Amino acid sequence: MSYNLLKGKKGIIFGALDESSIAWKTAERVFEEGGEFVLTNAPIALRMGNVDELAKKTNSKLIPADATKLDDLENLIKQTMELFDGKIDFVLHSIGMSVNVRKGRHYTDLNHEWMGKGWDVSAVSFHKLLQSLYKLDAMNKWASIVALSYMAAQRVFPNYNDMADNKAYLESIARSFGYFFGKEKNVRVNTISQSPTPTTAGKGVKGFDGFINYAEKMSPLGNASAMDCANYTITLFSDLTKRVTLQNLYNDGGFSNVGVSQEVIDIISKDES
Ligand SMILES: NC(=O)c1ccc[n+]([C@@H]2O[C@H](COP(=O)([O-])OP(=O)(O)OC[C@H]3O[C@@H](n4cnc5c(N)ncnc54)[C@H](O)[C@@H]3O)[C@@H](O)[C@H]2O)c1
Repeated sequence: MSYNLLKGKKGIIFGALDESSIAWKTAERVFEEGGEFVLTNAPIALRMGNVDELAKKTNSKLIPADATKLDDLENLIKQTMELFDGKIDFVLHSIGMSVNVRKGRHYTDLNHEWMGKGWDVSAVSFHKLLQSLYKLDAMNKWASIVALSYMAAQRVFPNYNDMADNKAYLESIARSFGYFFGKEKNVRVNTISQSPTPTTAGKGVKGFDGFINYAEKMSPLGNASAMDCANYTITLFSDLTKRVTLQNLYNDGGFSNVGVSQEVIDIISKDES
């Protein structure tokens, strides 16, 4: 269903790789709600994925940018402002990658060079993006910027590895930069902490099936899907949430506030009897 929530709004969406990506679903929903946007991803991801299909479907331009490179970000933002002949109303940062997770390195035996790379891609890229938008004065008043996080930033999930630390850093950047963006430019900055979701990045986490099934059984409303995340994100891009900022917002079916669910107790009790 469309509510025309984003009619007239223009933005940038990072991180659509394939149909399973949270950013892909978000782009589809933003389009349905009347928003216009530029799609972007790292050049290598654009060669591998099928993002041009999404671009065609949503009448959007595709501009490559490695989110760890300031020059790429500057070029992307300038081109977007030229295309739309004005400033930007919304940005989605939907980017994550850990070399240690990819290569199966245990948290107690991390390769710190890889750790630095994952940190740069997953967390520092958000600061680079915010700083580039800020310096270029690219955001309209009351614009909204959202990045995606996971609750391993607050609680221990052993297999989430160094991504837990990257997410904690990402959430902190949202608050710290969000303060200045709010004060100086009337712009909102938030993170959404999303349920485990079967995407390329999600499925890369060791033991993902156990992870997602456990979360499903713990959450009174069940896991939030990529589409649920897209729907939540468009509310944050809309004018209906103008004074929501500096928040880490849980979109997780209630998981984050449950100690244990009866379903999980029943499974454990069965195992013990
Ligand atoms: N899938 C989950 O379980 C889950 C849960 C909570 C939060 N998240 C977060 O959601 C976001 C989106 O991930 P997803 O699950 O849709 O997976 P995804 O694999 O579809 O998306 C990750 C994206 O990051 C992009 N990326 C990687 N390096 C980049 C770089 N240098 N520059 C620009 N883009 C780069 C990839 O190309 C890809 O499009 C990530 O921040 C992820 O951590 C995912």
